[in-house]
Amino acid sequence: MIATRRRFLGLAAGLLLAGAGWSSRAESPEEASATRLMDDLMWNRGPIGGSFALIDHAGKLRTDEDFRGKLLLIYFGYTYCPDVCPTDLQQIGLAVDGLGARAEAVQPLFITLDPERDTAAHLADYVPSFHPRLIGLTGSAEQIRRVALAYKVYYAKYPPDSSDYVIDHSAFIYLVDKTGKYIGFFPPGTTANRMIEIITLNLSGTKR
Ligand code: NI
Repeated sequence: MIATRRRFLGLAAGLLLAGAGWSSRAESPEEASATRLMDDLMWNRGPIGGSFALIDHAGKLRTDEDFRGKLLLIYFGYTYCPDVCPTDLQQIGLAVDGLGARAEAVQPLFITLDPERDTAAHLADYVPSFHPRLIGLTGSAEQIRRVALAYKVYYAKYPPDSSDYVIDHSAFIYLVDKTGKYIGFFPPGTTANRMIEIITLNLSGTKR
């Protein structure tokens, strides 16, 4: 596990910039939709977030209501992601560590955008390398599509009809308050220290 973390650390150094937005591909219907989703998210247009029922990496059914009373850090990605996901998940893990005792009030969640390959068992191999308290969530393709859409997450398979694919996806880190209400998002590449500062403001209720 330490070896895995170290590998991700190495990757993280050179790839922070890669997380700064969307991959540059030729125009396609998916791109148009990505723009729309990002536009909605950035200007806080329409409801963001909401209920979900998914399977955690231990195989247990989890709903959003199970996490009431916790500040949620929600990240959407997939375990085969070569760069952005490991970088951001590592920062989330460091942020939870850095919060010390205050981390009790925070629950980090990783929702896969690749339910086909990311089974509960597969997530169980992956999430603990970032943080022991990180919970991986998977579900049917339809369940994942629904929760991703609720959070305005863009994702698409490339190439779409191959078994050897990557998933192009937006990589925001969502903050949801203790009542289940969406607060806002951290952009891709946000450092653990910045997350700690902002989470601390939200936990102490001193947020402007
Ligand atoms: Ni990724």
